[in-house]
Amino acid sequence: MTRKLEAGKLVIASHNEGKVREIRDLLGPQGIEPVSAAELDLPEPDEIGATFIDNADLKARQAADLSGLPALVDDSGLCVEALGDRPGIFSARWALADPRVAPEAGPGHVEGTRDFMRAMRRVQDELEALDPDASRNAHFICALAVCWPDGHSEWFEGRVDGTLVWPPRGENGFGYDPMFVPAGHQTTFGEMDPADKHAISHRADAFARLVAALL
Ligand code: IMP
Repeated sequence: MTRKLEAGKLVIASHNEGKVREIRDLLGPQGIEPVSAAELDLPEPDEIGATFIDNADLKARQAADLSGLPALVDDSGLCVEALGDRPGIFSARWALADPRVAPEAGPGHVEGTRDFMRAMRRVQDELEALDPDASRNAHFICALAVCWPDGHSEWFEGRVDGTLVWPPRGENGFGYDPMFVPAGHQTTFGEMDPADKHAISHRADAFARLVAALL
């Protein structure tokens, strides 16, 4: 049976303050008090799972075990259909600026300066190399895992479909936003007003599922 989240502290097992702020805005009105992993000085585990849910779950499990509080983690990325859904769970690694680091070289290489122009160019170059007429369909996935200290877990996945454009357009958002046009729209996530993106994004979809089930 789905377990409800009770009012009280919830660890957001992310060292990304932007993500923690977004989650705080979303869950604060429900009586949930998000505490960041950084505030609790929790370590950042390696992402060694094979799926978004695996990665979210292993980070949330470690945070719940170490803190003794329920913990929530968001793991997300871009899946390009013609590339066999890559970069997928490696989305952040494709932006590593050090060319000596193999992008899919296992855990331990997820630190360092991120350059998303480089990551977007790699997507474009791989599509061109495959076939200039290759499908440009893509989707973003957002996986959420909530783990309790007694071993119970709940998972949710959100998705937004769209197509990729080149060159990238727009200064808003982050990551691959400037090359992603959501289905039914003309503008990229990078050109959209953030509130418009947040209304239709994979993250909004996943959080709507979480709120409906757990709150
Ligand atoms: P995570 O922090 O390990 O979940 O890495 C997620 C990565 O996926 C980010 O660094 C971005 O590259 C990409 N990503 C996830 N969500 C979005 C989004 O909403 N827009 C653009 N890129 C995203």
